[in-house]
Amino acid sequence: MIKIGVVGANGKMGSEVVKLAISDPELELVCAVDANNIGQNIYNDVYIEGDLEAALKIRNVDVVVDFTQPKSVYENVLTYIENGVKSVIGTTGLSNQQISKIQQVSDEKNVGCFIAPNFSIGAILMMKFASEASKYFSNAEIIEYHHNQKKDAPSGTSIKTAQLMMKNNNNFKLGNCEETETINGARGGNYSINGNGNIQIHAVRMPGFVASQEVIFGADGQILKIHHDTINRECYMSGVKLAVEHIFKNNNFVYGLENIL
Ligand SMILES: NC(=O)c1ccc[n+]([C@@H]2O[C@H](COP(=O)([O-])OP(=O)(O)OC[C@H]3O[C@@H](n4cnc5c(N)ncnc54)[C@H](O)[C@@H]3O)[C@@H](O)[C@H]2O)c1
Repeated sequence: MIKIGVVGANGKMGSEVVKLAISDPELELVCAVDANNIGQNIYNDVYIEGDLEAALKIRNVDVVVDFTQPKSVYENVLTYIENGVKSVIGTTGLSNQQISKIQQVSDEKNVGCFIAPNFSIGAILMMKFASEASKYFSNAEIIEYHHNQKKDAPSGTSIKTAQLMMKNNNNFKLGNCEETETINGARGGNYSINGNGNIQIHAVRMPGFVASQEVIFGADGQILKIHHDTINRECYMSGVKLAVEHIFKNNNFVYGLENIL
């Protein structure tokens, strides 16, 4: 039985993890933390707590699962590692520098940490197929679609997709002529690292969407679209469970669910 703490337990994703931890016979919900609804009874003798560090010290958590918000996730992860608690991080918005620092601290302290910008198996396959297609196309752009409560843009998934695409092609082309934006941002945001990559990412925010992404490849006379739709948030839970099981048994740092599939 793996003892689970959920941070962001009141949120859209956190409440799905709470349901998973309650319903799965191999998991046990022992701790729930959120910035809101402190004191609310979540399940049996588990109540929402507001003080993360105090909760980690009192509750006997094996793995904490964090679905909070971009502006608090970095501090949260450092708190897990400093307190010797293994973590699975679904919250997006971490910068490359923050991810490198977390990896360094996780390695130094020998406390496992699993970060994945997307826990849906279909989305992982979409990224894998996009990475493969990048070998054969010189033009590619990404459009990601999310609900209008999402705080960060572009999505962690679109950035991760661009990174995987860059492994197979680190110099995508844009238009074939000099481009002028008559409205700022009309061509999206350019994802590049040290001048390499050059992938335009466009972010749509609208009620009705959960999370979708399309990677579009173009060449003379043909278009390839790789499209994934998240219909509801249950789709992430099998991936969260795999990550929890992995980090429970291992003490390493992992970035991306594809590393354990
Ligand atoms: N990795 C994935 O597969 C995946 C999938 C969907 C969403 N996400 C990401 O997960 C995050 C959460 O998404 P959501 O839709 O559940 O958001 P949400 O706003 O519904 O939930 C966030 C919850 O965290 C709580 N919270 C915020 N700051 C906190 C803090 N410092 N300590 C404790 N609780 C805090 C809020 O009160 C809220 O209840 C976002 O970054 C989102 O992009 C990741």
